[in-house]
Amino acid sequence: MNNEGNMYHASICIPPRHWCYEPTDNIMADRAEMNLLMHACSFFPKPKVLELGTYKGGTTNNMAKIVSALGGHLVTVDVKSCPSTLPEVQRGECLPESVVGCDIEDKYRSCITQLLVDPAEDYSYMLAEFAPYDVIFYDGDHSYEGIRRDLEMLKPMRNEDCIEMLHDVWWDVTPPPVDGPLRVMQEQPKSYILNFTHIGVLRTGSMLKLLGVPNVAL
Ligand SMILES: C[S@@+](CC[C@H](N)C(=O)[O-])C[C@H]1O[C@@H](n2cnc3c(N)ncnc32)[C@H](O)[C@@H]1O
Repeated sequence: MNNEGNMYHASICIPPRHWCYEPTDNIMADRAEMNLLMHACSFFPKPKVLELGTYKGGTTNNMAKIVSALGGHLVTVDVKSCPSTLPEVQRGECLPESVVGCDIEDKYRSCITQLLVDPAEDYSYMLAEFAPYDVIFYDGDHSYEGIRRDLEMLKPMRNEDCIEMLHDVWWDVTPPPVDGPLRVMQEQPKSYILNFTHIGVLRTGSMLKLLGVPNVAL
């Protein structure tokens, strides 16, 4: 484990999965990241999971594989229009409403609630309806302001041992296309960049949870 100020690079060992829990490849995130997210979901008996940033639903499907197997629920959120804080490089990711979540597989729909929100309004009550959450994956607005706002909004909605994961905290290119997630991570009291993927996890407790015993046969 390497220390970098408040942040650590942590290598955790994820056991090979049974074939039915293999992630499906997704152009927005690589296989190692998908494995980590599925791994996180597998620690809770009936996981309640929140994803910010549905896009077409590639990551949603992968997490839903575990969530549905465990009888849990997954809420995935996207926006009806680009938030004013959204970094320029991310603007092309905002899809027309009819396309958001278009790849979500029908077999998972019963364990998924898909929400489309107006980013200019207070939509926290819509997310609070399904709280508290065991796993939260931040992959929406990657601006510093946007992530700070989302973290603050979700603070009262997380379970005591919630695993909070941020996407794109780490890049293999310099300069990083967006630096909001990294800046937010650097402010957090103990946070970890996992296995040199793009994913970061907040708090030591979350990290320890990831090293525990999962609830599905892997
Ligand atoms: C990087 S993509 C998400 C990729 C998706 N998680 C996947 O792996 O397939 C970012 C998405 O976040 C959405 N988005 C932007 N701002 C958001 C916000 N404040 N809340 C939720 N989603 C947001 C964008 O419309 C876009 O679909």
